[in-house]
Amino acid sequence: MTTTPTTTAQATDLTEVAERLDADDTLAHVRERFLLPPHVVYLDGNSLGPLPAAVPPVLADVVTRQWGTDLIGSWNDNGWWEAPLRVGDTIGALIGAAPGQTVAGDSTSVQLFTALDAAVSLRPGRTLLVTDPDHFPTDRYVAAAVAERRGLDLRRVSPAELPRFLRDEGDRVAVVSYSPVDFRTGELFDMGALTQAVHGADALILWDLCHAAGALPVELDFLEADFAVGCGYKFLSGGPGAPAYLYVARRHHHELRTPLPGWTGHADPFGLSRDYTPAPGIARARIGTPPILSLLALEAALTAYDGVDLTAVRAKSLSLTGFLLRCADDLLTPLGFTSVTPTDPDRRGSQVSLRHPHAHALTRALADRGVIADMRAPDLLRFGVNALYTTHRELLTAAQCLRETAAEREYDPTPRTTGPVT
Ligand SMILES: Cc1ncc(COP(=O)(O)O)c(C=O)c1O
Repeated sequence: MTTTPTTTAQATDLTEVAERLDADDTLAHVRERFLLPPHVVYLDGNSLGPLPAAVPPVLADVVTRQWGTDLIGSWNDNGWWEAPLRVGDTIGALIGAAPGQTVAGDSTSVQLFTALDAAVSLRPGRTLLVTDPDHFPTDRYVAAAVAERRGLDLRRVSPAELPRFLRDEGDRVAVVSYSPVDFRTGELFDMGALTQAVHGADALILWDLCHAAGALPVELDFLEADFAVGCGYKFLSGGPGAPAYLYVARRHHHELRTPLPGWTGHADPFGLSRDYTPAPGIARARIGTPPILSLLALEAALTAYDGVDLTAVRAKSLSLTGFLLRCADDLLTPLGFTSVTPTDPDRRGSQVSLRHPHAHALTRALADRGVIADMRAPDLLRFGVNALYTTHRELLTAAQCLRETAAEREYDPTPRTTGPVT
């Protein structure tokens, strides 16, 4: 096999660059807020964020004192009842949402259904629901289900094609459902331009922020976005299956009717009345009894962002992904890897994806060497960086490890296309 050995000069150069960038890192102290296992390079925080140090003591308190001792009184005395709105506001601060517009709870899929169905109701007479053909599967499936139930036609239009599509058919569009970051390639779309284009057609926009919240500044209010959803377990590091969230712009609250009018979203939930009257504001988007253990774990996790400026997060994230792209160029391109992540910083989220026919086997082999990334079928290796804890040195280690694994063929090349479930 023909490989290009890393020259000593190349390795020294990349090491020096990594060390200099890490020495200048203004967010370096935030890494201590995470309990990262030693000798592991964790590059899968865009799938499951690592454990924040604040979570175990809070969870212990919630279980032993709040639940164990204070029992049902905790709904009032320990702030359990307000938790969905309180945690929603904390997330709101990370996504440019003023208080009172975000509620936390349920899964992203449930929140997507709620948001899409509610958004369709706000545009009666419109017959099209638009989604990205490359959207995450749950977004595509839920959009198709909502379109079918509401008698709309589903159109799969990529963000690049949207302006032209809206010029031709915009007056028929009810809702456009997009993500700012492509979960496979890490491409970042222009949220401002797309939101404006959708509003130009008097349609509504729903953003899925799973791969953006906590990774880059998002300005929902400033952009006048209509709806947004996202999960709590990726960059927000709220734990496996952490509650998701729903944002609805305040101007839509009075008309908002959700498809799941559960009792906790009632104007008088303890009045136990026969008929449903929605609570004022975003509280009407509450559904059932909130999952307190995971909600309070998420709340504790979010303290990792205390005093952290998202502009600095974005700057460091771009430095990290830019450095990883450089490592890939120098060390991995000669071995048949190609990057599918845009080099233009304005078009890059917080991950780098590399194409290789043995992506699955290589991801497993990397994990055996303590570098945890993931893959997306059929052939993409995904490296998620989180500016709160990832270092440039770790990225160089990952790239070197991948180079060695590929060059020495230290992986089982049996083709497989399914990745680990995350
Ligand atoms: C963009 C996007 N939306 C939704 C989800 C998952 O939805 P849920 O939290 O309901 O599993 C993911 C998971 O990776 C995702 O990447």
